[in-house]
Amino acid sequence: MIVGIPQEIKNNESRVGMTPAGVFELVKNKHTVYVQSGAGLGSGFSNNDYQQAGAAILDTIAQVYAMSDMIVKVKEPIEEEYDLIREGQILFTYFHFASSEALTKAMIKQKAICIAYETVEDNDGTLPLLTPMSEVAGRMAIQQGAKYLEKPVKGRGVLLGGVPGVAPGKVLVLGAGVVGVQAAKMAAGLGAHVTILDVNMKRLRYVNDVMPPHVTTEFSNEFNIRKHIKTHDLIIGGVLLKGAKAPNLITRDMLKEMKPGTVIVDVAVDQGGCVETTKPTTHEDPIYIIDDVVHYSVANMPGAVPYTSTMALTNVTLPYTLKLANLGWQAACEQDASLQKGLNIVSGKIVYNEILEAFGWEEALA
Ligand SMILES: NC(=O)c1ccc[n+]([C@@H]2O[C@H](COP(=O)([O-])OP(=O)(O)OC[C@H]3O[C@@H](n4cnc5c(N)ncnc54)[C@H](O)[C@@H]3O)[C@@H](O)[C@H]2O)c1
Repeated sequence: MIVGIPQEIKNNESRVGMTPAGVFELVKNKHTVYVQSGAGLGSGFSNNDYQQAGAAILDTIAQVYAMSDMIVKVKEPIEEEYDLIREGQILFTYFHFASSEALTKAMIKQKAICIAYETVEDNDGTLPLLTPMSEVAGRMAIQQGAKYLEKPVKGRGVLLGGVPGVAPGKVLVLGAGVVGVQAAKMAAGLGAHVTILDVNMKRLRYVNDVMPPHVTTEFSNEFNIRKHIKTHDLIIGGVLLKGAKAPNLITRDMLKEMKPGTVIVDVAVDQGGCVETTKPTTHEDPIYIIDDVVHYSVANMPGAVPYTSTMALTNVTLPYTLKLANLGWQAACEQDASLQKGLNIVSGKIVYNEILEAFGWEEALA
């Protein structure tokens, strides 16, 4: 198969769909890989790195789309790319169709085979191609939180690890899923005192088993949240209700109960956030302040660390990319139930029910 790696042209996206290591594996399996010139630079990979791994470099994005059977990317195609996509071409990337009617209609029109990273699903209901980005965001949440706790950027002026003779900072983590556990681990590593809340006792038991004693678990309810927000310096929002808006566990009135300079990093912002006052921000302008509480709610946190994020993402996408290239998309999806769930739009037809439901299109297109 001929596999193409275009440069990401969405604003502020420096990740790339494949590393030189991925190219090496595909070439080893007798596939041809075309990489757009400069596509890897934002993630630290030069054209020469890709060439040494066996790829050929093409000058323009149009050439990559025109010459490839399968395009492997990171973000959904943007408008400039729509007309480059060809009938029957495989697109393997994040799509998030339910959030964009325009993208969905464009992919129906282009009649491509759209396999979405975010809906590839394992037997136990986990989403293997989303997990690494939650891992990155969870770990980053503590780095960002620690930074914004500093006084010059309006935080409380607390050092999370404390020093001998001074108590460490306190971190409250809402949700003990992927984001929450990674955040708790980083905060604990810095020496902070960590409280982690969840409604899922299995997750709390797991955290209790694997974390050091200065990470304590409690059941998530309004009473406990109201109690802890008064004493904690940094609050991490890592709650997810699959397919739904995150619940507002922290309401506007609660901000007044917090110490001035408390920092909230609401990682769940991409699902509406678990804090009533959360609104999406960008890496250029990541924070805002309400009632003396610093809010950090960047919707694409992994974008700030493209080297790590590209590696983390391509580690998990590569086995599926190889399967698609080796077997073709039909046989690959027949043989692999997880990959089958990634099929969203096939040759102009929506095959993933949640997209139809999101737009109320069931009758029109089913
Ligand atoms: N901002 C970003 O850049 C970024 C990056 C990656 C992930 N995310 C988002 O972070 C969120 C968390 O992702 P995840 O992978 O950790 O999800 P996850 O499913 O692994 O974990 C979510 C946890 O929330 C818990 N939960 C549900 N209701 C709760 C409640 N009322 N109180 C406390 N806990 C509750 C669940 O039991 C679960 O353990 C998602 O919205 C995800 O999209 C954002």
